[in-house]
Amino acid sequence: MAEISPARLEAPARVAGAPPAVTVVVPTRNEADNVGPLADRVRAAFGDQPVEIVFVDDSDDATPSAIEAIAERHPDEVRLIHRVSQERAGGLGGAVVAGISAARAPWVVVMDGDLQHPPETAPQLLAAGRAETAQAVVASRYRQSGRVDGLGGWFRRTVSRGSGRLAKLFFPLRLRGVTDPMSGFFAVRRDAVRPAELRPDGYKILLEMLVRNRIERVAEVPYTFRSRTAGESKASLPEGLRYFRHLAGLRLSMMRRPQSAYGRMAGFALAGAAGTAVNSVALWALGELAGLPYLLAAFLAVQVAIVWNFAVIDHLVMPPGARARHHRFGRFLLLNNSLTPLHLGLLFALVRWGGLHYLGANVVAIIVVFALRYIVTSSWVYGT
Ligand code: GDD
Ligand code: MN
Repeated sequence: MAEISPARLEAPARVAGAPPAVTVVVPTRNEADNVGPLADRVRAAFGDQPVEIVFVDDSDDATPSAIEAIAERHPDEVRLIHRVSQERAGGLGGAVVAGISAARAPWVVVMDGDLQHPPETAPQLLAAGRAETAQAVVASRYRQSGRVDGLGGWFRRTVSRGSGRLAKLFFPLRLRGVTDPMSGFFAVRRDAVRPAELRPDGYKILLEMLVRNRIERVAEVPYTFRSRTAGESKASLPEGLRYFRHLAGLRLSMMRRPQSAYGRMAGFALAGAAGTAVNSVALWALGELAGLPYLLAAFLAVQVAIVWNFAVIDHLVMPPGARARHHRFGRFLLLNNSLTPLHLGLLFALVRWGGLHYLGANVVAIIVVFALRYIVTSSWVYGT
């Protein structure tokens, strides 16, 4: 990544100087007429707090030279990262991550370069972050006095609102309390962002960070999204489709590798509930329809459920691990069957002396064995 700046800008004395209180990261693509006013308003908004502005630019127009002109006027405060075309992977999101990675301040504000995000709101984000000891603060168009004035016609508004709702549907816990997960205007603590975990893909970089970096404490500040006065929006139908791809990919990969023991337990419990249903239906079919003796039917139903459980858990819950799939399946089958005598013994006891119907007794046996199975599989098959 080429960091183009007047040589004196990166002079060691300046880079090594006192770190700024805040780094403002501004992704730009063809915003030549906006960057000058933006930089002036950002500096004015922060008053005497030391601020650093990092432009991450993917432009093909005169924007880089416009930014260099600003950097000449404010050499201590303005930096330019200009990405050549091969480095533009990840689009807007990739640019934001590059800017955050380069930030020197403990707090980073990310905002658009077209003045649709009022720079005067930026210090409020910081103040809220500090006051609420949050790790991130989202500027929201949908909270209290927030407004969407500059968002254009009803179609764009509906798409924007709908995509936010969809994200919340996909990540109900992670996005609890966040009214505008689509926002491109937010503040984040530099140490809450782990760039290596991120897979930026277009516009939705805030969502990506909240989900993959597991940012827990999020505050919000309302603001009014303004109209563009110069240049044009780069949002498009392909960007919209990219969003759906991103959202689905994000959800799937989070299900594949929930790193917390809690997430794994929840996945295990969900799969187990479905497995119980599968087991019960199989037992009912084999016992009632095929007329097999109930203990034999229960043994076979357990085999059906084991295969089902393996498919679900292996695909969605556990991290892939080093072993080959058939090897994992072998262990899984063996291990679960090591508990089958216990299962059948329990079933027999509950029917014989507990007076339960075998279908009900089977569910009780499954629940008892489940707890044991969770403990043993996670350590023996997956080594966690
Ligand atoms: N570096 C870089 N690379 N910057 C980009 C790229 C890119 O590929 N694409 C767009 N940008 C810059 C623009 O120059 C602008 O500063 C900012 O990112 C937002 O782009 P716009 O094209 O103006 O987006 P918008 O106004 O339609 O969308 C805004 O509102 C959405 C909510 O409706 C953005 O803030 C979105 O993040 C937000 O979701
Ligand atoms: Mn815009």
